[in-house]
Amino acid sequence: MASGFFADHTDLFAKNIPVYVQESRSFRLPKDNTTDIIMVGPGTGIAPFRAFLEQRALDGATGRNWLCFGEQHRATDFLYGDEFLAFQTQGKLHRLDLAFSRDQAQKIYVQHRMLENAMELWSWMQNGAYFYVCGDAKRMAKDVHQTLISIAQNEGGMSPEAAAEHVNTTLMRTERRYLRDVY
Ligand SMILES: NC(=O)c1ccc[n+]([C@@H]2O[C@H](COP(=O)([O-])OP(=O)(O)OC[C@H]3O[C@@H](n4cnc5c(N)ncnc54)[C@H](OP(=O)(O)O)[C@@H]3O)[C@@H](O)[C@H]2O)c1
Repeated sequence: MASGFFADHTDLFAKNIPVYVQESRSFRLPKDNTTDIIMVGPGTGIAPFRAFLEQRALDGATGRNWLCFGEQHRATDFLYGDEFLAFQTQGKLHRLDLAFSRDQAQKIYVQHRMLENAMELWSWMQNGAYFYVCGDAKRMAKDVHQTLISIAQNEGGMSPEAAAEHVNTTLMRTERRYLRDVY
């Protein structure tokens, strides 16, 4: 994000640029370490999830961890790929789904991986999993949101209205286990 700020909002020869930390009060790991988590973080959205996995490992969390990451090309953009593969080998990352959008003729995005694994995703959600989304707000987060509603509808046998209500109200507001950090 900083390159956009430098390009658009700073003077060419600025020497001092103030920096501050904005604490996130809600985008946090579940207090209960036995809770499963699903993390959807394409592109720069991967950042908090690397920390989440490190924290869960430190805490000895027994809840399962599912990471869904996407970028353009596996060869150049699999950010922290070695670390995630190592977590997987060590049994600290239970599911890793990758969506490299430009490694084939058809675009593959994180929400396509969610749909391919809809039954399992829904079963994790029904088991109380937390669902996290981080990254681009304009396109990705909207599409992932819509995909979660479709999964509630198709896997949970809900009407379109009930599925939307479940995601928008029950998961986001009442139970607060669908959390987003999008920009
Ligand atoms: N100004 C800056 O310095 C700066 C730096 C980084 C990010 N950003 C902004 O931050 C946001 C996030 O950027 P990012 O670098 O994290 O990567 P991104 O643009 O979100 O791209 C990450 C991956 O998501 C894919 N994608 C595109 N549309 C999608 C959709 N509707 N649903 C799911 N996945 C989709 C991309 O595929 P394709 O590209 O192949 O379509 C790519 O594989 C963007 O708005 C970007 O402009 C700004």
